[in-house]
Amino acid sequence: MKIGILTSGGDCPGLNAVIRGAVLKGTTTHNIEFVGIRDGWRGVVDGDFFPLTRHEVKGLSKIGGTILGTSRTNPYEGPRGGAENISKTMYGHRIDGIIAIGGEGTLAAANRLAKDGIDVLGVPKTIDNDLRATDYSFGFDTAVNIATDAMDRLRTTGDSHKRCMVAEVMGRHVGWIALHAGMAAGAHVVCIPEVPMTIDEVAEQVTKAFDRGRAPLVVVSEGFTLKGMDEAYSDKGLDAFNRPRLGGIGEVLAPEIERITGIETRATVLGHIQRGGSPSAFDRVLATRLGLAAADAAVEGAWGQMVSLKGTDIVRVSFEEALGELHTVPQERFDEAAALFG
Ligand code: F6P
Repeated sequence: MKIGILTSGGDCPGLNAVIRGAVLKGTTTHNIEFVGIRDGWRGVVDGDFFPLTRHEVKGLSKIGGTILGTSRTNPYEGPRGGAENISKTMYGHRIDGIIAIGGEGTLAAANRLAKDGIDVLGVPKTIDNDLRATDYSFGFDTAVNIATDAMDRLRTTGDSHKRCMVAEVMGRHVGWIALHAGMAAGAHVVCIPEVPMTIDEVAEQVTKAFDRGRAPLVVVSEGFTLKGMDEAYSDKGLDAFNRPRLGGIGEVLAPEIERITGIETRATVLGHIQRGGSPSAFDRVLATRLGLAAADAAVEGAWGQMVSLKGTDIVRVSFEEALGELHTVPQERFDEAAALFG
């Protein structure tokens, strides 16, 4: 059996650990031959493959990024895209199936390809933790650790200058990174997409914290909307899947907070730092386990499914189950954090 592995969409710490887990289990236990697919669906469309042996994956679990490269290419676009062309390309290279490691956009494309007859299975990846059929996705823990460390640093400089510090984190349309990093760093208010607020509500918590002698820390998720905004702030256009590229709400909030409270305020956008570097131990273990399970799933022909974390077990779910609604922050989790605001 010959299996191709690809990583697609935004990268995320732990991708290499999945690749290593799949290749080690697949080659030693199941006698699978692997090929690496370069740059996500772009490599599938262009037939850009290379042999992936034990040798290529040695020592990989601690390495950030992805040795395969990634892109946000849509496999249905371009003259060589589409299920029929891809099927011919796979046949030409004797590839029996594909393990696609990706987030919502990647898995939606994989689902469409699976319905069109391509043997593909998925491994969930996203720092955003926004896929509903997995309790956690690898990359999230690392992103939260990086964001928490950054906020600890923002707090010391904020304290020195008696300033309000606004930290904007990623997460797209869910607030998991903001919620967890904000709670870990002791934020005075956390703004997430699931719970729109008015600028006065944000400013009220800032003033309360300042009046207690604290330098207020506001954590805002890039997808947060102020009450009355129709959609999340975006001035960077659309990605390859026609989704708005988010970011910049922190810079919108900061001058407004300063205007209302009179407290000097600075915004920091953490951006792609949250996706870089070595995965945490938690993410290495989760990613490795998902890789092992993906090799098992391939040999058992579990196409159209995704391996996922349920509690502490690795299980399989259908693409349909994995897609659709996002895994959002429940109101009670926000309320827990809100008890610490101000
Ligand atoms: O989905 C992961 C993510 O990092 C989001 O949090 C963020 O909105 C987006 O990707 C950024 O995408 P890009 O790397 O294309 O700028």
